[in-house]
Amino acid sequence: MTKAVRYNEFGGIDVLRIDEVDRPAPAAGQVLVQVKAAAINPGETALRIGAMTDIFPSTFPSGQGSDLAGVVAEIGAGADRFSPGDEVIGFSEKRAAQAELVLVDVDNLTPKPSNVPWEVAGSLYIAGVTAWGAVHSVQLEKGETVVISAAAGGVGSFAVQLARRAGATVIGLAGEGNHEWLRSHGVIPVAYGDGVTDRIKAAAPDGVDAFIDAYGGGYVELALALGVAIERIDTTIDFAAAAKYGVKTEPGPNGRAGAEVLAELAALIAAGHLEVPIANVYPLAQVRQAYTELERRHTHGKIVLRP
Ligand SMILES: NC(=O)c1ccc[n+]([C@@H]2O[C@H](COP(=O)([O-])OP(=O)(O)OC[C@H]3O[C@@H](n4cnc5c(N)ncnc54)[C@H](OP(=O)(O)O)[C@@H]3O)[C@@H](O)[C@H]2O)c1
Repeated sequence: MTKAVRYNEFGGIDVLRIDEVDRPAPAAGQVLVQVKAAAINPGETALRIGAMTDIFPSTFPSGQGSDLAGVVAEIGAGADRFSPGDEVIGFSEKRAAQAELVLVDVDNLTPKPSNVPWEVAGSLYIAGVTAWGAVHSVQLEKGETVVISAAAGGVGSFAVQLARRAGATVIGLAGEGNHEWLRSHGVIPVAYGDGVTDRIKAAAPDGVDAFIDAYGGGYVELALALGVAIERIDTTIDFAAAAKYGVKTEPGPNGRAGAEVLAELAALIAAGHLEVPIANVYPLAQVRQAYTELERRHTHGKIVLRP
């Protein structure tokens, strides 16, 4: 038997349990990974409370989590690109990452560079690939100015660095406590809240070319008010605004790129070009505490479970 996060009904944090489950056996094309780190994401809360059933139906018992990094324990037929003992980064498409052992399609794995810490390796998929998609979708050119909301959160902390690497001037909206981290990564920090439009205009006297919203709650409208073109606005969360105004939602619920982007992000980290702040690490047994912290919506970087 082995341990896995499960829930049997939609609900609050208290529906989360650690269950003893049968050891999974890899089918053809699958790899069994012993999970070393699995980051958590706000979307998992939305799934757990039943807010996404129209896009992602659930069956019970439900597992939880996409992000993972770990060690190959067994391989199925045709999955011999990897061998037992290999260190890998990947993702579960079955919401099963928060477990001691997880089955992963071989195409959803990439080797973990040896100098990338487990917590970081297990944090790359949802937030990293989303940020990568958002930054590419707004097509930044060298010297342009982009505003990024929730700039020091899970998605934002990747997005601001990738946007800087694209040569953009980056204005990051964040609480005061995150301004020093943003500054140290070449980002112009701006406090959100009353007066934010004027503060952005003061920080971007020549105007704003693109906007990445990783928070929702009116930032798409703010981007439009700043004069940003519709096709240069991307929101990771405000799907109602996207439907209303036609702004982008890359990578979108079904348009996510996979292991190649993970490999690219891992290589940047290994080379010291990309940092993933780790806000906190919890043992699997403390999954409820981990989501309690995440749901305050003030995480800097990633919160990670270590089975
Ligand atoms: N479409 C997709 O596939 C996809 C994938 C990943 C995430 N998402 C969505 O994207 C959003 C961001 O995810 P995440 O993982 O980055 O979340 P997160 O790590 O929980 O980040 C929350 C951030 O929000 C900031 N924040 C709080 N109040 C704010 C405000 N009024 N204005 C601007 N920022 C504010 C916080 O900054 P301070 O601490 O500085 O206050 C914190 O850094 C979530 O809604 C998530 O569901 C979508």
